[in-house]
Amino acid sequence: MQSQTTKSSPPDPDARRYAPATKRNREAIYEILKNNLPEKGTLLEVASGTGEHAAWIGSRLPAFTWQTSEYDTNLFPSIKAHIQATEANNISVPIHIDVAQKDWGFGKEMNVEFQNKTDVILCANMIHIAPWEVAIGLIRGASKFLRENGLAFIYGPFFQNDVETAPSNMEFDRWLKEQDSSWGIRQLDDVKNLAQDHGLLLNKIHPMPANNLFLQLKKINKT
Ligand SMILES: C[S@@+](CC[C@H](N)C(=O)[O-])C[C@H]1O[C@@H](n2cnc3c(N)ncnc32)[C@H](O)[C@@H]1O
Repeated sequence: MQSQTTKSSPPDPDARRYAPATKRNREAIYEILKNNLPEKGTLLEVASGTGEHAAWIGSRLPAFTWQTSEYDTNLFPSIKAHIQATEANNISVPIHIDVAQKDWGFGKEMNVEFQNKTDVILCANMIHIAPWEVAIGLIRGASKFLRENGLAFIYGPFFQNDVETAPSNMEFDRWLKEQDSSWGIRQLDDVKNLAQDHGLLLNKIHPMPANNLFLQLKKINKT
């Protein structure tokens, strides 16, 4: 993966934005990644948001080249400023990714850079705060850009057929649908089936704080 770790134009540290949930979930996310990632490689983070996960978790995984990305370019200054505030040199400034676009909006060059080469894709808290087409786009792209046996990690709340839904998640789902009727907590089985249709096997489900799950998917070998 091309290094985009450019610290040449110093971002304004005050551009840093904060999403309070990241402080509550970053350690749990880091623990799972640390224990399940390969020894080293490239990690492409989809929907980096404020950039807090990239800065905090990425700086603890120095064997990974961590590529941040965002759909909302207004968040680029925050992501850059959080990266700048770390001592880490393995975290790259954001690229634009809209997973709902064909090939995530990548041109030919980016396709060549990422296709079948990315070791890990990470996406936290996106697919319930977006239409289902965004989940489809995430999985489609993960299948395209991951190398064989590469891993995709998806963090967030999910409904499970055989597990009673926590009242907080019922409430959250109602709130999401009030914001936008196309949003909402996804059924784990729907995500699992979608992934399987694209050659990604759900091979671990990590329980996380506050009734969230961390899905670990593996791009299976072509036979
Ligand atoms: C709730 S934030 C989560 C940010 C961060 N991952 C976190 O956990 O704090 C949801 C993010 O999804 C991004 N997003 C929404 N639609 C997207 C799309 N089509 N492609 C990529 N990212 C998208 C938004 O820009 C936003 O940053």
